[in-house]
Amino acid sequence: MTVYQANPVRGRLNSLTFRLLDRYAHHLLGDRKQALFADLPETIAELGPGTGANFRYYRPGTRVIAIEPNPHMRSALTAHAAARGIAVDLRARPAEDTGLPSASVDVVVCTLVLCTVPDPLAAVRETLRVLRPGGRLIFVEHVAGEGGYARLQRGLARPWRWFFEGCEVRRDTEHILRDAGFTEIKLERYTLKSVFGPINPQIAGVAIR
Ligand SMILES: C[S@@+](CC[C@H](N)C(=O)[O-])C[C@H]1O[C@@H](n2cnc3c(N)ncnc32)[C@H](O)[C@@H]1O
Repeated sequence: MTVYQANPVRGRLNSLTFRLLDRYAHHLLGDRKQALFADLPETIAELGPGTGANFRYYRPGTRVIAIEPNPHMRSALTAHAAARGIAVDLRARPAEDTGLPSASVDVVVCTLVLCTVPDPLAAVRETLRVLRPGGRLIFVEHVAGEGGYARLQRGLARPWRWFFEGCEVRRDTEHILRDAGFTEIKLERYTLKSVFGPINPQIAGVAIR
């Protein structure tokens, strides 16, 4: 299995980038996330939480098992958690191998992460393993687009992957999720209106074990 290794320079740069883009991301995705994250249990697991962009949507007091292998995200992640009253249980592990017990969590959250994990199918299978029967994977992901977006993604794939440490703008995450073996998937495809064209084609929804 290829393991994600944070680059010492780009890992820090990405941490800074996500912190700077926090409000813009909230502007773009806040309503959608608020709807998806309504009704979360007290303890959830989050894959690749980065700098904690989702913490603003969680109830204060929520315990988040944070599966985040990039050490450069940690200080912003813990500061963000403290500011929002979130208890973070940080695990420096990849989503493909979380180390969590089988059937131990009710909800796994994953936003803009399956684009970057080296083995997204392994990450989704690992999620299925740790979810209890009936448990939910809540996801928001950018995906391969069509027409003009496909051309834009083709043109920018290499520099994007380099800067964002492995982020694949042409990944067919919908099929990865559909092939993984969930009992039910509720998924919406939409086009974001952001200045970051390659990540505008997106999917969001809930996959139930
Ligand atoms: C684009 S950022 C998204 C951060 C956050 N989820 C958000 O919505 O803003 C991708 C995140 O995935 C993390 N990541 C990369 N490879 C990973 C892996 N194999 N397992 C878990 N997280 C990973 C990165 O360190 C980074 O925090």
